[in-house]
Amino acid sequence: MHLIRRPDVLSSEITAKAAYLDRRSFMASAAIGAAALATGGLLAPDEARAATAPREKLAGVRKSGWTVPETLTPYQDVTTYNNYYEFGTDKADPARNAHTLKTRPWTVRIEGECVKPATFGIEDILKLAPLEERVYRLRCVEAWSMVIPWVGYSLSELLKKVEPTGNAKFVEFTTLADPETMPGVRGRVLQWPYVEGLRLDEAMHPLTLLTLGVYGEVLPNQNGAPVRVVVPWKYGFKSAKSIARIRLVEKMPATAWNRAQPSEYGFFSNVNPEVDHPRWSQARERRIGEFRKRDTLMFNGYAEQVASLYTGMDLKRWF
Ligand code: MTE
Repeated sequence: MHLIRRPDVLSSEITAKAAYLDRRSFMASAAIGAAALATGGLLAPDEARAATAPREKLAGVRKSGWTVPETLTPYQDVTTYNNYYEFGTDKADPARNAHTLKTRPWTVRIEGECVKPATFGIEDILKLAPLEERVYRLRCVEAWSMVIPWVGYSLSELLKKVEPTGNAKFVEFTTLADPETMPGVRGRVLQWPYVEGLRLDEAMHPLTLLTLGVYGEVLPNQNGAPVRVVVPWKYGFKSAKSIARIRLVEKMPATAWNRAQPSEYGFFSNVNPEVDHPRWSQARERRIGEFRKRDTLMFNGYAEQVASLYTGMDLKRWF
């Protein structure tokens, strides 16, 4: 995500610009054309078609009150402009390569500091609580953002089932690392498996979404199928994809990006326009599909809901 060269012009700018200059003829190009543009034209037409094809609809999804007054990022961009390093480091690589991910059978083991450790099958996870659509902003640490209609329910619903003990202070997410199906795992860009973590109160916060779908359908592989978390007030890398194990632990877990570059990626990684990344500003962001940059909002616009979690903490120190 950040150890590699950053293109001077984001491919999304090209999309936005093309749309701006000639919306009509641009619209005439099929969704596939748009998807190809969003990823810098790197996806072959058949790859783009497969990456953006309709997927299984999720039944019984309710609209929720969680939404933002901004335009949704098109499905084509949500599914072809991705970070999923297990499938490669280019934005188009996950859409191109993640078809090899096997999402059935799938289990999530939950263990550690809890009374009832258990292994949950994905079918049971899908039925554990009512599915809601929640439109969240996703702000990547690389200073681009999207607005995405995720489907899922609060992670707390799942964690409650295993009854965390009083010693549980943090939650560690370990995601699948299978060298057979994930070409990126054969390289050393990160230490595999990808591990992320939250403080227990962050994990139990109602905004933290156990995510099973997007745009009313099951998650595309490149977006972290079959189950991921989405933590909307933190930089996108905290939102671990394709989760295989959750551990309740007493100590702050070591996480993949923090291990790789501790001075650049802190454990908390709350979206904060006042704390710059050592190599670039975090004050503004490029919304995928827009031309002008936007101001980045404190806690990505969720301060009202989450600022109290950090009362008294120096957010420059605990970045
Ligand atoms: N999870 C795993 N397992 N591997 C990854 O490389 N990338 C993270 C996060 N989760 C990543 C991951 C980053 S940097 C971002 S911005 C988001 O996923 C992107 O999610 P999206 O592709 O669905 O928008």
